[in-house]
Amino acid sequence: MNVTVAGRTRHFRTVWFDAENNAVQLIEQRLLPHQFEISATRDFRATATAIRDMIVRGAPAIAATAAYGLAQGARAFRGSNLAKFAAHVEAVFQTLKAARPTAVDPVNAMNQVRAAMAPGESVEEQQALALAAAEQFAQESVAHCEAIGRHGARLIRAGARVLTHCNAGWLACVDVGTATAPIYAAQAQGRKIHVFCDETRPRCQGATLTAWELAQQGVSHQVIADNAAGHLMQRGEVDLVIVGSDRVLGRTGEIANKIGTYTKAVLAHRHRIPFYVAIPLSTIDWSLRAGADIPIEERSEDEVLGAWGAVGNFKSQISNLKSLYVRVANPTSGARNPGFDVTPAELITGIITPAGIFKPRELWRRRHELGG
Ligand code: MRU
Repeated sequence: MNVTVAGRTRHFRTVWFDAENNAVQLIEQRLLPHQFEISATRDFRATATAIRDMIVRGAPAIAATAAYGLAQGARAFRGSNLAKFAAHVEAVFQTLKAARPTAVDPVNAMNQVRAAMAPGESVEEQQALALAAAEQFAQESVAHCEAIGRHGARLIRAGARVLTHCNAGWLACVDVGTATAPIYAAQAQGRKIHVFCDETRPRCQGATLTAWELAQQGVSHQVIADNAAGHLMQRGEVDLVIVGSDRVLGRTGEIANKIGTYTKAVLAHRHRIPFYVAIPLSTIDWSLRAGADIPIEERSEDEVLGAWGAVGNFKSQISNLKSLYVRVANPTSGARNPGFDVTPAELITGIITPAGIFKPRELWRRRHELGG
């Protein structure tokens, strides 16, 4: 999407690959919205750390990062022994997979890269195939988001007030976004929309990333405290909820997404507000049989006990701002910090996919058209 910083507009993807330097290039999301910087990782371990530490985050974005990371690791191998190369690629795969456990997209993306490498008859050939496959994954991911936009735009009437949780926008993908794709498509068709961005404690991806993204794209929006959604729904101020997901179970239609998504689904159900989940095909897990089996990432208690922000003169250059972590909670208290929750199928109105909008329990029957 286009980014305007200090009056200059340029197109950026969230993640891309610099083949000459064997480096993964990433928008440094921890600095947004106060600073816009690009960060490069020069080996697969640094790429895994960038995923774990959330320089890049959002299921499709970490999938493309992992795909590039696998190609990066493969390309760093020196030698011609295919067995040793295979063992090295397996170690790279496991390192990247372990970075964040809940999203299935990185595993699906890396499996796609590994399958594309298999016909290569030499290390060199497999290295070239790995990079081509990672590029193809990134390209397909963008195409999937565009298709989500085309299918989802019809759900958004002029004047609609849409609630979204966390960031499932273009920063969470390679480009365009999942939950935001229908919003951008409706905007391109000339409809005015207002978006409520859940703040999304503890890391505030809604207040920082979604709000910045919507501001960049000129979409009317307001940040709300996570606890405000029920009140707005009760007063008839929310027409539609659209969220992303880190893992959708193809067998049951359950979805894992940022902690607090389940709460919003319960509230939407209570107020008869449509609740949609927008996903590329890489987010579908065709093997797990129950939502309770989805690995839920537990993150550092510091995220709950405090908050990150910036201090300085907000009216002057954004680079004058200084990032800061402040302790909020009682100093002697600990915290529990599950990063995701699971929403059952019966609370979901529809899943917006690149192939159309389906009921959650329809996915399994449609598995052939959905890449299952
Ligand atoms: O912890 P994060 O910021 O990676 O969580 C992101 C989300 O929960 C998104 O909603 C999800 O990855 C879908 S992104 C299209």
